Amino acid sequence: MKIVETAAELSQLRGKMPGPVGFVPTMGYLHEGHLVLVRQARAENASVAVSIFVNPTQFGPKEDFRQYPRDPRRDLALLEGEGVDLVFMPPVEEIYPPGFNAWVEVGGLGERLEGASRPGHFRGVATVVARLFELVRPDRAYFGQKDAQQLLVIRKMVADLDMSLEVVAVPTVREPDGLAMSSRNTYLNPEERKQAAVLYQALTLAQKLYGEGERNAAAIRRRMTALILKQPLADIDYISIADAETLDELDEVKPPALVSMAVRIGKTRLIDNVVVG
Ligand code: PAJ
Repeated sequence: MKIVETAAELSQLRGKMPGPVGFVPTMGYLHEGHLVLVRQARAENASVAVSIFVNPTQFGPKEDFRQYPRDPRRDLALLEGEGVDLVFMPPVEEIYPPGFNAWVEVGGLGERLEGASRPGHFRGVATVVARLFELVRPDRAYFGQKDAQQLLVIRKMVADLDMSLEVVAVPTVREPDGLAMSSRNTYLNPEERKQAAVLYQALTLAQKLYGEGERNAAAIRRRMTALILKQPLADIDYISIADAETLDELDEVKPPALVSMAVRIGKTRLIDNVVVG
């Protein structure tokens, strides 16, 4: 496994990698959710590249960029175990050299839900992913359904800018109690961790209500809200029931619909989603 930190080294090695090349962009502190993406990339491509880069431009000024968990040594051991060929772990100046000032903005899709709660977030995500795509030049790139809106924003960027690669979506990996795996779960203390299971319980409730024939989005949201607020440490940022492609909010649930939410458990903001129908 080759480990490179500069664009120059990357470009040199990239030229020698047999194609197709599968690419998994990450911010590190890897868990099983990341590794499932890596395994699928490994199974479908001749070469696999992974990036580890905590991207400062996708964090708001009051967000957790500095505290974001990091453990590169452990990450590299895990990736080695998965048979990854190349890991790109650039310092910030390699991605954003002094004076860097070109940004990728995906309007509409990037402005709602997470984009509304975290202004500039998807501009940072789209910009770094475009930058990484240009450097790694993958044939396929793998993204988790866990970050459903991110996946839609990346797909839209790739389509609108005619980037010649395939975006592959991978289902969400969960803990035994349903909590979606996330590097941010490490912020939770034991009591918060217990209460965090309510996110998936609320999504499961939405699926059940839909299964029983409920089509009124407001009614489903009300039941989800009541369930979540039974947990004293939970504070809802949003619950959305939207068209799974456009993210237009629905009054009447029409499949496929994306049920997504952001909920704070104590100080930790968690997101999760399911598709119904
Ligand atoms: P990060 O949060 O490290 O996630 C990297 C990839 O792993 C993303 O595609 C994410 O959706 C996927 N992932 C995370 N948890 C998952 C889970 N429980 N199940 C399935 N997939 C999961 O997302 C980012 O980094 C960044 O925004 C990035 C795309 C790297 C740009 O900086």
